[in-house]
Amino acid sequence: MKNQNLLVGLDIGTTSIKAVIADNGKVIGSVTTPNNGMRHGQIVDIDETAGAIKRALQDVSDKLGQPIHRVVTGLPVGMLQLEAATGLINVGESGVEVTSKDVKRVLQAAIRSAVKDGREAVSYLPSRFIIDGKTNVDDPRKMIAHSLAVNGILLTAPSSSLHNLKKAIERAGVFNNFFVPTPLAIASVALDEGERTFGAIILDFGGGMTSATVIHQGQIKYASVDLEGGSDITHDISVVLSTSNKEAEQAKVDYGFALPSLASTKSQFAVRTVGKTEQQLVDEAYLTEIINARLEQIVSRLGKGLKKHDALKLPGGVIITGGTSLLEGLDTLVANRLNVKARVFQPDQLGMHSPAYAAAYGIINYSNKMSDIDFMANSAIYGTEVLSDQAEMQLKKERSAKRRPILSEIKAQDDYNESNMSVTKTVSDQKQDSNKKEKKSFGSFFKKFFD
Ligand SMILES: Nc1ncnc2c1ncn2[C@@H]1O[C@H](COP(=O)(O)OP(=O)(O)OP(=O)(O)O)[C@@H](O)[C@H]1O
Ligand SMILES: [Mg+2]
Repeated sequence: MKNQNLLVGLDIGTTSIKAVIADNGKVIGSVTTPNNGMRHGQIVDIDETAGAIKRALQDVSDKLGQPIHRVVTGLPVGMLQLEAATGLINVGESGVEVTSKDVKRVLQAAIRSAVKDGREAVSYLPSRFIIDGKTNVDDPRKMIAHSLAVNGILLTAPSSSLHNLKKAIERAGVFNNFFVPTPLAIASVALDEGERTFGAIILDFGGGMTSATVIHQGQIKYASVDLEGGSDITHDISVVLSTSNKEAEQAKVDYGFALPSLASTKSQFAVRTVGKTEQQLVDEAYLTEIINARLEQIVSRLGKGLKKHDALKLPGGVIITGGTSLLEGLDTLVANRLNVKARVFQPDQLGMHSPAYAAAYGIINYSNKMSDIDFMANSAIYGTEVLSDQAEMQLKKERSAKRRPILSEIKAQDDYNESNMSVTKTVSDQKQDSNKKEKKSFGSFFKKFFD
Protein backbone atom coordinates (compact mmCIF):
# COMPACT_ATOMS: atom_id res chain seq x y z
CA MET A 1 0.00 0.00 0.00
CA LYS A 2 1.21 3.47 -0.84
CA ASN A 3 2.32 5.32 2.27
CA GLN A 4 1.71 9.06 1.97
CA ASN A 5 3.61 9.87 5.14
CA LEU A 6 6.99 8.87 3.76
CA LEU A 7 9.55 11.61 3.46
CA VAL A 8 12.84 11.09 1.64
CA GLY A 9 15.71 13.48 2.38
CA LEU A 10 18.24 13.74 -0.42
CA ASP A 11 21.83 14.89 0.04
CA ILE A 12 23.36 15.22 -3.42
CA GLY A 13 27.09 15.03 -2.71
CA THR A 14 30.13 15.16 -4.99
CA THR A 15 31.12 11.57 -4.31
CA SER A 16 27.80 10.05 -3.32
CA ILE A 17 24.06 10.53 -3.00
CA LYS A 18 22.71 9.93 0.46
CA ALA A 19 19.00 9.30 0.96
CA VAL A 20 17.31 8.98 4.33
CA ILE A 21 13.72 7.81 4.58
CA ALA A 22 11.34 8.71 7.37
CA ASP A 23 7.84 7.48 8.04
CA ASN A 24 5.82 9.95 10.09
CA GLY A 25 9.05 11.59 11.15
CA LYS A 26 10.70 8.33 12.24
CA VAL A 27 13.79 7.31 10.29
CA ILE A 28 13.24 3.89 8.72
CA GLY A 29 16.11 3.56 6.27
CA SER A 30 19.13 5.06 4.59
CA VAL A 31 20.95 4.53 1.31
CA THR A 32 24.21 5.69 -0.29
CA THR A 33 25.10 5.44 -4.00
CA PRO A 34 28.24 6.71 -5.74
CA ASN A 35 27.91 9.83 -7.88
CA ASN A 36 30.23 10.57 -10.80
CA GLY A 37 28.32 13.57 -12.11
CA MET A 38 29.80 16.24 -9.85
CA ARG A 39 33.12 17.94 -9.12
CA HIS A 40 33.83 20.07 -6.09
CA GLY A 41 30.16 20.33 -5.22
CA GLN A 42 28.96 21.34 -8.68
CA ILE A 43 27.04 19.27 -11.20
CA VAL A 44 29.19 18.71 -14.28
CA ASP A 45 27.01 15.99 -15.82
CA ILE A 46 23.25 16.17 -15.28
CA ASP A 47 22.56 12.68 -16.65
CA GLU A 48 25.24 11.04 -14.47
CA THR A 49 23.89 12.82 -11.40
CA ALA A 50 20.31 11.92 -12.35
CA GLY A 51 21.40 8.29 -12.76
CA ALA A 52 22.99 8.29 -9.31
CA ILE A 53 19.87 9.81 -7.72
CA LYS A 54 17.72 7.28 -9.56
CA ARG A 55 19.82 4.38 -8.28
CA ALA A 56 19.63 5.71 -4.73
CA LEU A 57 15.86 6.06 -4.92
CA GLN A 58 15.53 2.65 -6.56
CA ASP A 59 17.42 1.19 -3.57
CA VAL A 60 15.03 3.03 -1.27
CA SER A 61 12.01 1.69 -3.18
CA ASP A 62 13.38 -1.84 -3.11
CA LYS A 63 13.88 -1.60 0.64
CA LEU A 64 10.40 -0.23 1.22
CA GLY A 65 8.59 -2.24 -1.42
CA GLN A 66 6.96 0.86 -2.88
CA PRO A 67 7.96 3.61 -5.32
CA ILE A 68 9.25 7.01 -4.22
CA HIS A 69 7.63 10.03 -5.85
CA ARG A 70 8.65 12.96 -3.69
CA VAL A 71 11.83 14.10 -2.01
CA VAL A 72 13.24 17.03 -0.06
CA THR A 73 16.72 18.06 -1.14
CA GLY A 74 19.54 19.84 0.68
CA LEU A 75 21.30 22.87 -0.79
CA PRO A 76 24.96 23.22 0.19
CA VAL A 77 26.05 26.43 1.86
CA GLY A 78 28.17 27.36 -1.17
CA MET A 79 25.02 28.04 -3.14
CA LEU A 80 23.29 30.15 -0.55
CA GLN A 81 23.03 33.88 -0.26
CA LEU A 82 21.02 35.69 2.40
CA GLU A 83 18.80 38.71 1.84
CA ALA A 84 16.74 40.74 4.30
CA ALA A 85 13.18 40.42 3.05
CA THR A 86 10.25 42.48 4.28
CA GLY A 87 6.68 42.36 3.05
CA LEU A 88 3.64 44.50 3.79
CA ILE A 89 -0.03 43.97 2.84
CA ASN A 90 -3.43 45.45 3.63
CA VAL A 91 -5.65 43.01 5.47
CA GLY A 92 -8.87 45.04 5.79
CA GLU A 93 -9.82 48.73 6.12
CA SER A 94 -11.81 48.20 9.29
CA GLY A 95 -9.59 45.54 10.87
CA VAL A 96 -10.36 41.86 10.30
CA GLU A 97 -8.99 38.49 11.37
CA VAL A 98 -5.77 37.51 9.63
CA THR A 99 -6.24 34.31 7.61
CA SER A 100 -3.71 31.78 6.30
CA LYS A 101 -4.25 33.34 2.88
CA ASP A 102 -3.15 36.75 4.24
CA VAL A 103 -0.04 35.16 5.77
CA LYS A 104 0.82 33.53 2.46
CA ARG A 105 0.25 36.86 0.68
CA VAL A 106 2.59 38.79 2.96
CA LEU A 107 5.20 36.05 2.69
CA GLN A 108 4.93 36.22 -1.10
CA ALA A 109 5.35 40.00 -0.98
CA ALA A 110 8.49 39.67 1.15
CA ILE A 111 9.96 36.96 -1.06
CA ARG A 112 9.24 38.87 -4.28
CA SER A 113 10.83 42.02 -2.89
CA ALA A 114 14.19 40.41 -2.23
CA VAL A 115 14.94 38.07 -5.14
CA LYS A 116 17.72 39.41 -7.33
CA ASP A 117 18.41 38.81 -11.00
CA GLY A 118 20.00 35.45 -11.70
CA ARG A 119 18.96 34.02 -8.36
CA GLU A 120 15.93 32.13 -7.07
CA ALA A 121 14.30 31.96 -3.66
CA VAL A 122 14.83 28.65 -1.92
CA SER A 123 13.81 29.28 1.66
CA TYR A 124 12.27 32.11 3.66
CA LEU A 125 12.80 32.30 7.40
CA PRO A 126 10.37 34.80 8.94
CA SER A 127 11.65 36.36 12.15
CA ARG A 128 8.51 38.32 13.11
CA PHE A 129 5.16 39.47 11.85
CA ILE A 130 4.07 43.04 12.60
CA ILE A 131 0.40 43.90 13.01
CA ASP A 132 -0.65 47.46 12.14
CA GLY A 133 2.95 48.61 12.18
CA LYS A 134 3.40 48.16 15.93
CA THR A 135 2.70 44.74 17.43
CA ASN A 136 5.31 42.02 16.89
CA VAL A 137 3.94 38.48 16.82
CA ASP A 138 5.17 35.02 15.90
CA ASP A 139 1.97 33.87 14.21
CA PRO A 140 -0.60 36.50 13.21
CA ARG A 141 -3.40 34.12 12.23
CA LYS A 142 -6.77 34.86 13.84
CA MET A 143 -5.52 38.22 15.15
CA ILE A 144 -7.32 41.45 14.15
CA ALA A 145 -5.29 43.58 11.75
CA HIS A 146 -5.58 46.41 9.25
CA SER A 147 -2.15 45.75 7.85
CA LEU A 148 0.32 42.91 8.16
CA ALA A 149 4.08 43.04 7.67
CA VAL A 150 6.74 40.38 7.92
CA ASN A 151 10.50 40.62 8.46
CA GLY A 152 12.81 37.75 7.79
CA ILE A 153 15.67 36.29 5.84
CA LEU A 154 15.37 34.99 2.31
CA LEU A 155 17.85 32.37 1.18
CA THR A 156 18.49 32.39 -2.53
CA ALA A 157 20.58 30.26 -4.89
CA PRO A 158 21.91 30.96 -8.39
CA SER A 159 19.25 30.08 -10.97
CA SER A 160 21.76 28.22 -13.14
CA SER A 161 23.01 25.82 -10.47
CA LEU A 162 19.49 25.36 -9.16
CA HIS A 163 18.35 24.53 -12.67
CA ASN A 164 20.99 21.78 -12.91
CA LEU A 165 19.95 20.29 -9.59
CA LYS A 166 16.24 20.42 -10.43
CA LYS A 167 16.89 18.88 -13.83
CA ALA A 168 18.89 16.01 -12.28
CA ILE A 169 16.15 15.32 -9.71
CA GLU A 170 13.44 15.54 -12.36
CA ARG A 171 15.33 13.18 -14.69
CA ALA A 172 15.65 10.75 -11.82
CA GLY A 173 11.85 10.59 -11.99
CA VAL A 174 10.89 12.26 -8.72
CA PHE A 175 9.36 15.54 -7.63
CA ASN A 176 11.31 17.78 -5.29
CA ASN A 177 8.94 19.19 -2.68
CA PHE A 178 11.35 21.92 -1.65
CA PHE A 179 14.99 22.65 -0.89
CA VAL A 180 16.39 22.83 2.61
CA PRO A 181 19.56 24.80 3.47
CA THR A 182 22.00 21.96 4.26
CA PRO A 183 23.96 23.79 7.01
CA LEU A 184 20.74 24.53 8.92
CA ALA A 185 19.70 20.92 8.39
CA ILE A 186 23.02 19.71 9.83
CA ALA A 187 22.73 22.22 12.68
CA SER A 188 19.32 20.78 13.57
CA VAL A 189 20.85 17.38 14.36
CA ALA A 190 24.55 17.94 15.05
CA LEU A 191 24.33 20.96 17.36
CA ASP A 192 22.46 21.21 20.62
CA GLU A 193 20.23 24.17 21.31
CA GLY A 194 22.93 26.04 23.22
CA GLU A 195 25.41 25.60 20.39
CA ARG A 196 22.87 26.79 17.83
CA THR A 197 22.02 29.85 19.91
CA PHE A 198 25.37 30.91 21.35
CA GLY A 199 27.38 29.88 18.36
CA ALA A 200 29.31 27.00 16.86
CA ILE A 201 31.07 26.10 13.63
CA ILE A 202 30.04 23.24 11.36
CA LEU A 203 32.99 21.88 9.43
CA ASP A 204 31.67 19.59 6.70
CA PHE A 205 34.54 17.52 5.34
CA GLY A 206 33.04 16.03 2.19
CA GLY A 207 34.49 14.34 -0.84
CA GLY A 208 34.71 17.27 -3.23
CA MET A 209 34.83 20.21 -0.85
CA THR A 210 35.02 21.27 2.75
CA SER A 211 32.79 23.96 4.16
CA ALA A 212 32.83 25.91 7.38
CA THR A 213 29.54 27.44 8.47
CA VAL A 214 29.11 29.59 11.54
CA ILE A 215 25.76 29.18 13.24
CA HIS A 216 24.76 31.82 15.74
CA GLN A 217 21.30 32.63 17.11
CA GLY A 218 19.94 29.80 14.99
CA GLN A 219 21.10 31.43 11.77
CA ILE A 220 23.95 31.15 9.30
CA LYS A 221 26.30 34.02 10.12
CA TYR A 222 29.35 33.26 8.03
CA ALA A 223 30.42 30.56 5.62
CA SER A 224 33.52 29.67 3.73
CA VAL A 225 34.00 26.90 1.20
CA ASP A 226 37.29 25.24 0.35
CA LEU A 227 37.06 23.34 -2.92
CA GLU A 228 39.10 20.41 -1.68
CA GLY A 229 37.94 17.35 0.16
CA GLY A 230 38.44 13.61 0.52
CA SER A 231 38.77 13.04 -3.25
CA ASP A 232 41.75 15.38 -3.32
CA ILE A 233 43.37 13.39 -0.53
CA THR A 234 42.79 10.22 -2.54
CA HIS A 235 44.28 11.91 -5.59
CA ASP A 236 47.38 12.90 -3.58
CA ILE A 237 47.84 9.30 -2.41
CA SER A 238 47.44 8.00 -5.94
CA VAL A 239 50.07 10.43 -7.27
CA VAL A 240 52.60 9.90 -4.48
CA LEU A 241 52.28 6.11 -4.46
CA SER A 242 51.86 5.83 -8.26
CA THR A 243 48.78 3.77 -7.80
CA SER A 244 45.24 3.85 -9.17
CA ASN A 245 42.59 6.05 -7.62
CA LYS A 246 40.71 2.95 -6.54
CA GLU A 247 43.71 1.50 -4.68
CA ALA A 248 44.50 4.90 -3.18
CA GLU A 249 40.93 5.25 -1.89
CA GLN A 250 41.04 1.77 -0.39
CA ALA A 251 44.38 2.46 1.30
CA LYS A 252 43.06 5.74 2.75
CA VAL A 253 39.92 4.12 4.13
CA ASP A 254 41.66 0.98 5.44
CA TYR A 255 44.99 2.32 6.77
CA GLY A 256 44.88 6.11 6.85
CA PHE A 257 44.75 8.46 9.82
CA ALA A 258 44.41 12.22 10.07
CA LEU A 259 47.20 12.48 12.62
CA PRO A 260 50.76 11.14 12.21
CA SER A 261 50.98 10.33 15.93
CA LEU A 262 48.30 7.65 15.47
CA ALA A 263 50.08 5.82 12.63
CA SER A 264 52.84 3.26 12.93
CA THR A 265 55.81 2.67 10.63
CA LYS A 266 55.65 -0.99 11.59
CA SER A 267 52.22 -1.52 10.15
CA GLN A 268 52.56 -2.07 6.42
CA PHE A 269 50.25 -2.83 3.52
CA ALA A 270 50.75 -3.70 -0.16
CA VAL A 271 49.66 -1.55 -3.11
CA ARG A 272 49.89 -2.17 -6.82
CA THR A 273 52.15 0.34 -8.55
CA VAL A 274 51.25 1.51 -12.04
CA GLY A 275 53.65 -0.03 -14.60
CA LYS A 276 55.19 -2.57 -12.18
CA THR A 277 54.26 -6.18 -11.69
CA GLU A 278 55.31 -6.55 -8.06
CA GLN A 279 53.39 -4.77 -5.29
CA GLN A 280 55.09 -2.18 -3.10
CA LEU A 281 54.92 -2.14 0.67
CA VAL A 282 53.85 1.11 2.25
CA ASP A 283 53.62 1.86 5.94
CA GLU A 284 50.70 3.60 7.61
CA ALA A 285 52.91 6.43 8.79
CA TYR A 286 53.93 7.35 5.23
CA LEU A 287 50.31 7.17 4.03
CA THR A 288 49.21 9.30 6.97
CA GLU A 289 51.83 11.93 6.17
CA ILE A 290 50.26 12.37 2.72
CA ILE A 291 46.76 12.59 4.20
CA ASN A 292 47.80 14.90 7.02
CA ALA A 293 49.49 17.40 4.70
CA ARG A 294 46.31 18.00 2.69
CA LEU A 295 44.10 18.11 5.79
CA GLU A 296 46.37 20.65 7.46
CA GLN A 297 46.17 22.86 4.36
CA ILE A 298 42.38 22.74 4.19
CA VAL A 299 41.93 23.38 7.90
CA SER A 300 44.38 26.27 8.02
CA ARG A 301 42.84 27.93 4.95
CA LEU A 302 39.35 27.73 6.43
CA GLY A 303 40.74 28.72 9.82
CA LYS A 304 41.94 32.07 8.51
CA GLY A 305 38.43 33.21 7.60
CA LEU A 306 37.00 31.83 10.83
CA LYS A 307 39.62 33.65 12.87
CA LYS A 308 39.07 36.90 11.00
CA HIS A 309 35.39 36.76 11.85
CA ASP A 310 35.97 35.87 15.50
CA ALA A 311 34.18 32.57 15.01
CA LEU A 312 36.85 30.58 16.81
CA LYS A 313 35.83 32.24 20.05
CA LEU A 314 32.28 30.91 19.88
CA PRO A 315 31.48 28.67 22.84
CA GLY A 316 30.30 25.68 20.77
CA GLY A 317 33.65 25.17 19.07
CA VAL A 318 33.78 23.05 15.92
CA ILE A 319 31.44 20.19 15.06
CA ILE A 320 32.84 18.07 12.23
CA THR A 321 30.71 16.13 9.73
CA GLY A 322 31.15 14.53 6.30
CA GLY A 323 32.76 11.25 5.21
CA THR A 324 36.34 12.50 5.48
CA SER A 325 35.88 12.91 9.22
CA LEU A 326 36.05 9.12 9.44
CA LEU A 327 39.81 9.64 9.32
CA GLU A 328 40.75 9.00 12.93
CA GLY A 329 42.27 11.99 14.69
CA LEU A 330 40.65 14.70 12.55
CA ASP A 331 38.96 16.17 15.63
CA THR A 332 42.33 16.46 17.38
CA LEU A 333 43.94 17.94 14.26
CA VAL A 334 41.21 20.60 14.05
CA ALA A 335 41.35 21.29 17.79
CA ASN A 336 45.15 21.72 17.71
CA ARG A 337 45.33 23.71 14.51
CA LEU A 338 42.47 26.12 15.35
CA ASN A 339 42.88 26.09 19.10
CA VAL A 340 39.23 25.23 19.70
CA LYS A 341 37.28 22.32 21.06
CA ALA A 342 36.25 19.97 18.27
CA ARG A 343 34.16 16.84 17.96
CA VAL A 344 32.89 14.63 15.13
CA PHE A 345 29.14 14.22 14.79
CA GLN A 346 27.50 11.11 13.42
CA PRO A 347 23.83 10.16 13.64
CA ASP A 348 23.26 7.30 16.05
CA GLN A 349 20.31 5.84 14.13
CA LEU A 350 20.70 2.29 12.90
CA GLY A 351 22.33 2.11 9.45
CA MET A 352 23.49 5.73 9.58
CA HIS A 353 26.50 5.45 11.84
CA SER A 354 28.63 7.72 9.70
CA PRO A 355 29.32 11.46 9.73
CA ALA A 356 28.56 11.30 5.97
CA TYR A 357 24.87 10.93 6.87
CA ALA A 358 24.72 14.12 8.95
CA ALA A 359 23.29 16.20 6.09
CA ALA A 360 20.68 13.69 4.82
CA TYR A 361 19.56 12.95 8.36
CA GLY A 362 19.46 16.68 9.07
CA ILE A 363 17.30 17.30 6.00
CA ILE A 364 14.69 14.88 7.33
CA ASN A 365 14.83 16.30 10.83
CA TYR A 366 14.70 19.91 9.66
CA SER A 367 11.74 19.22 7.35
CA ASN A 368 9.93 17.43 10.07
CA LYS A 369 10.33 20.27 12.52
CA MET A 370 9.15 22.95 10.12
CA SER A 371 6.29 25.02 11.47
CA ASP A 372 3.02 25.85 9.71
CA ILE A 373 4.47 29.24 8.86
CA ASP A 374 7.59 27.65 7.36
CA PHE A 375 5.38 25.44 5.21
CA MET A 376 3.40 28.48 4.09
CA ALA A 377 6.66 30.21 3.14
CA ASN A 378 7.70 27.16 1.13
CA SER A 379 4.33 27.01 -0.49
CA ALA A 380 4.73 30.71 -1.43
CA ILE A 381 8.12 29.94 -2.99
CA TYR A 382 7.41 26.64 -4.71
CA GLY A 383 3.87 27.55 -5.74
CA THR A 384 2.26 24.33 -4.63
CA GLU A 385 1.10 22.69 -1.48
CA VAL A 386 4.49 21.28 -0.72
CA LEU A 387 3.45 17.89 0.59
CA SER A 388 0.62 15.57 -0.28
CA ASP A 389 -2.59 16.42 1.59
CA GLN A 390 -2.36 13.42 3.85
CA ALA A 391 1.30 14.00 4.69
CA GLU A 392 0.55 17.65 5.22
CA MET A 393 -2.23 16.83 7.64
CA GLN A 394 -0.05 14.39 9.51
CA LEU A 395 2.77 16.88 9.77
CA LYS A 396 0.36 19.58 10.88
CA LYS A 397 -0.72 17.40 13.76
CA GLU A 398 2.88 16.98 14.88
CA ARG A 399 4.48 20.32 14.37
CA SER A 400 3.88 23.37 16.47
CA ALA A 401 2.63 26.57 14.90
CA LYS A 402 5.55 28.49 16.35
CA ARG A 403 8.35 29.37 14.02
CA ARG A 404 12.00 29.05 15.02
CA PRO A 405 13.25 32.34 16.41
CA ILE A 406 15.75 34.21 14.28
CA LEU A 407 17.42 37.30 15.62
CA SER A 408 19.18 40.33 14.21
CA GLU A 409 18.46 39.35 10.66
CA ILE A 410 19.23 42.46 8.67
CA LYS A 411 22.79 43.07 9.80
CA ALA A 412 23.49 39.38 9.75
CA GLN A 413 22.80 38.77 6.10
CA ASP A 414 24.56 41.91 4.95
CA ASP A 415 27.68 40.80 6.78
CA TYR A 416 27.29 37.28 5.47
CA ASN A 417 26.86 38.14 1.81
CA GLU A 418 29.06 41.12 1.32
CA SER A 419 32.13 40.56 3.36
CA ASN A 420 32.02 37.26 5.16
CA MET A 421 31.41 34.61 2.57
CA SER A 422 34.57 33.33 1.04
CA VAL A 423 35.47 30.57 -1.33
CA THR A 424 38.87 29.05 -1.66
CA LYS A 425 39.39 27.26 -4.91
CA THR A 426 42.31 25.03 -5.64
CA VAL A 427 42.58 23.71 -9.18
CA SER A 428 43.63 20.17 -9.98
CA ASP A 429 47.26 21.05 -10.58
CA GLN A 430 47.89 21.69 -6.94
CA LYS A 431 51.63 22.15 -7.22
CA GLN A 432 51.29 24.99 -9.68
CA ASP A 433 48.39 26.44 -7.88
CA SER A 434 49.20 25.79 -4.26
CA ASN A 435 49.64 29.41 -3.38
CA LYS A 436 46.81 30.67 -5.46
CA LYS A 437 43.94 31.17 -3.11
CA GLU A 438 40.96 33.05 -4.30
CA LYS A 439 38.64 34.76 -1.94
CA LYS A 440 35.59 35.82 -3.78
CA SER A 441 32.07 36.88 -3.16
CA PHE A 442 29.64 34.13 -3.94
CA GLY A 443 28.36 36.07 -6.92
CA SER A 444 31.65 35.97 -8.73
CA PHE A 445 32.29 32.42 -7.63
CA PHE A 446 29.15 31.20 -9.29
CA LYS A 447 29.69 33.40 -12.29
CA LYS A 448 32.96 31.61 -12.81
CA PHE A 449 31.53 28.15 -12.49
CA PHE A 450 28.18 28.37 -14.16
CA ASP A 451 28.24 31.03 -16.84
N1 LIG B 1 36.41 5.31 6.43
C1 LIG B 1 36.82 6.41 5.76
N2 LIG B 1 38.02 6.94 6.01
C2 LIG B 1 38.44 8.03 5.36
N3 LIG B 1 37.72 8.69 4.42
C3 LIG B 1 36.50 8.20 4.15
C4 LIG B 1 35.98 7.06 4.80
N4 LIG B 1 34.75 6.82 4.31
C5 LIG B 1 34.50 7.79 3.40
N5 LIG B 1 35.55 8.61 3.30
C6 LIG B 1 35.70 9.75 2.39
O1 LIG B 1 34.62 10.64 2.57
C7 LIG B 1 34.42 11.35 1.35
C8 LIG B 1 32.95 11.43 1.06
O2 LIG B 1 32.33 12.14 2.09
P1 LIG B 1 30.84 12.69 1.91
O3 LIG B 1 29.94 11.58 1.55
O4 LIG B 1 30.54 13.49 3.12
O5 LIG B 1 31.06 13.64 0.65
P2 LIG B 1 30.00 14.11 -0.43
O6 LIG B 1 28.78 14.57 0.28
O7 LIG B 1 29.81 13.06 -1.46
O8 LIG B 1 30.78 15.31 -1.12
P3 LIG B 1 30.65 16.90 -0.92
O9 LIG B 1 29.93 17.16 0.37
O10 LIG B 1 32.04 17.38 -0.89
O11 LIG B 1 29.89 17.37 -2.12
C9 LIG B 1 35.17 10.60 0.26
O12 LIG B 1 36.28 11.35 -0.17
C10 LIG B 1 35.62 9.33 0.96
O13 LIG B 1 36.89 8.88 0.51
MG1 LIG C 1 28.35 16.40 1.35
